[in-house]
Amino acid sequence: MQASESSGSALRRLLFTRQIAVEIAKNLAMGSDTIRDWRLRRPRTTISDADPAKDIVERYGLALPRKMLAMLGSLEGKAVAEIGPGDTLAAGFAMLAAGASRYTCLDRFPGDYGSAYAKGFYRGVKAAWPQAFPDRPWPQWLDPDRFPEAYPDRVNVVKVGVEATAGSQSVAADHDVVCSYAVGEHVQDVKAFARTSFEVLRPGGVALHVVDFSQHFDWSRWGDAFLYLSISDRVWKWMGSNRGLPNRVRFHEFLAALESTGFVVETHGRRLADSPPAPQRLLPRFRAMPLDSVRTLDATFVCRRPGA
Ligand SMILES: C[S@@+](CC[C@H](N)C(=O)[O-])C[C@H]1O[C@@H](n2cnc3c(N)ncnc32)[C@H](O)[C@@H]1O
Repeated sequence: MQASESSGSALRRLLFTRQIAVEIAKNLAMGSDTIRDWRLRRPRTTISDADPAKDIVERYGLALPRKMLAMLGSLEGKAVAEIGPGDTLAAGFAMLAAGASRYTCLDRFPGDYGSAYAKGFYRGVKAAWPQAFPDRPWPQWLDPDRFPEAYPDRVNVVKVGVEATAGSQSVAADHDVVCSYAVGEHVQDVKAFARTSFEVLRPGGVALHVVDFSQHFDWSRWGDAFLYLSISDRVWKWMGSNRGLPNRVRFHEFLAALESTGFVVETHGRRLADSPPAPQRLLPRFRAMPLDSVRTLDATFVCRRPGA
């Protein structure tokens, strides 16, 4: 019995080591310019024109503006910036439909926002709009088939990461709102993310960041939702340096980075994993952190820049 248990756990270790080797190989491949260009041209989310795939439109187009409207009130006449929109500008398109006066996006790995693929999302947002926001009529001027190229005075695309914008004054500090969805956990430098958020806002402006602190890999077969916090920093870097794996910054560190800029921060909808991580499986630095911070799965940060 004991022999079969120990051979079972040796097999698990072997399989997990193989999994890590596969992830390292994928990261190495992304270090090649050719493979990286090819990968970045392939969208990371899928939608087909024939099927507006409503839940995908909800997730990528409507969820963020819906949260902004619920938590910040009206977007009417507001200048909005989004960090890390992803493959399309579907959320920004919806923010304009909800009344935002203009939209700036910043992304280190921008998608092809005017592609047929992206326009499928914009059409999906327009199709889903009457049911999603029955009290907000669609603005006549906003056409998914001509977005974003027909609206240069309303859409500003900045193709650099927050590490380059922080402290550079390259993006005007005249936005009323800055937002992001599932981005903070991917940036290389969380302090630069916080600083850029603060700097693109006018005094009195507000930031809303939804951060996903969870594992990101589907590693459910290993039965440990915190397995990624047991991998050494060096191996984690080998696995993700070329492809934006999560930075593993924990909740309290993220909060401290936002507060260090001068933001007054509230957190909402913070979810903790049902079972806490087993301390002996965590890297020592995670073991030394507040347990509730380590086990946070996601949270929304609403940050006010003082001085209206
Ligand atoms: C997981 S995707 C999230 C995309 C989208 N916001 C969503 O709701 O799914 C992370 C996005 O952040 C962008 N990103 C990663 N690092 C960044 C950085 N340092 N500065 C700006 N954007 C970054 C990526 O290119 C990608 O578009």
